[in-house]
Amino acid sequence: MESVSYRGRIVSSTFISTLEETAAWRDELDAAGKRVVLTNGVFDLLHVGHVRYLNEARALGDALVVAINADESVRELKGEGRPLYTAEDRAEILCALAAVDRVVVFGEKRATNVIEAVNPHIYTKGGDYTAESLIDEERELMNRMGIEIQILSLVAGKSTSNTIKKMEGETEKSDKPRLALLGSGTGSNIRALVEAVDDGVLDAEIGLILSDAADSGVLEIAREYDLKGIHIEPGSKKRGHLTDAALKEVVDRLKANRIDLVILAGFMRVVRDPLLSEYPDRILNIHPSLLPKFPGLNAAKQAIEAGEAESGCTIHLVNAEIDGGRILAQASVPVLDGDDPDSLQARIQVREHDLYAKVIGDYWAGL
Ligand code: GRF
Repeated sequence: MESVSYRGRIVSSTFISTLEETAAWRDELDAAGKRVVLTNGVFDLLHVGHVRYLNEARALGDALVVAINADESVRELKGEGRPLYTAEDRAEILCALAAVDRVVVFGEKRATNVIEAVNPHIYTKGGDYTAESLIDEERELMNRMGIEIQILSLVAGKSTSNTIKKMEGETEKSDKPRLALLGSGTGSNIRALVEAVDDGVLDAEIGLILSDAADSGVLEIAREYDLKGIHIEPGSKKRGHLTDAALKEVVDRLKANRIDLVILAGFMRVVRDPLLSEYPDRILNIHPSLLPKFPGLNAAKQAIEAGEAESGCTIHLVNAEIDGGRILAQASVPVLDGDDPDSLQARIQVREHDLYAKVIGDYWAGL
């Protein structure tokens, strides 16, 4: 590439600065009493949301460094077909913006190394991040280095993914839903769903099997059937809880895999925003009781202790209330004399395995 100059800065052969150059430049600015802002992201196919965000970020200090994800990591984050533009091209486009002074590239999943090397005065993130959703490692590093963290708001509704969808005319729903199957344990329901798809009983594609437990049966099923299986560390020891960062990763993975319906089957973590608002009426759960009776844990035990003559399973949409969304279907089984929670649960599961595939197919067809 020829040498090109932007606002007096000669860029020879590349628009990507090395971390060493950037660190040295940062020190010069620091010595002159100037403040350097760092942000990071993909910045593939710029839209007005990016431009406003970068202008805001730049206005926090005197110079702005943008760290962009390397091509390979974008593919992992956003799915096949991304990035649309190579890191070189993205860097050149960014350098043409008045707000941007330097672009560096990072290949790791986390920005920790870049932050450490650049040592900015201010680090800023946009949009769906909150101070809590920064990866602990990043936050701890910045606290240690005395880097100020600023979260900026993003322009609603503007995103490269939305632009691509519009360009592809992707407004119609597809014939077959792409499913993400989420579970934490044995995965007998997930196995039944995978088999239903294999046998043609359920007309769907399985885009992803996701678990919060590395050793769950659910991920073994993914391996056995050669499906994409992902483990996401919940980031929290609190029962049923996912940290904001873990939840964000779940949402990112679902979007990257172009998921239409999120199917929970024994997923032992509470689903909340932003997942709920990203997939309104597109998250289903199966619960082993005749809801609204016995929501929550140990449903079979609760039914026996309440002296019920029958129990069963419920498939429902997921909302912010635990096991509280609109009921789509139920199937009942008798509670027999001498039942214990395990025997009742086993009887319920037989019904679950048939019902879930049918309800998913019918629900998609009715949308
Ligand atoms: C099922 O009984 C389901 O109703 C509940 O969790 C159990 C999961 O079992 N939400 P499995 O992992 O599908 O075998």
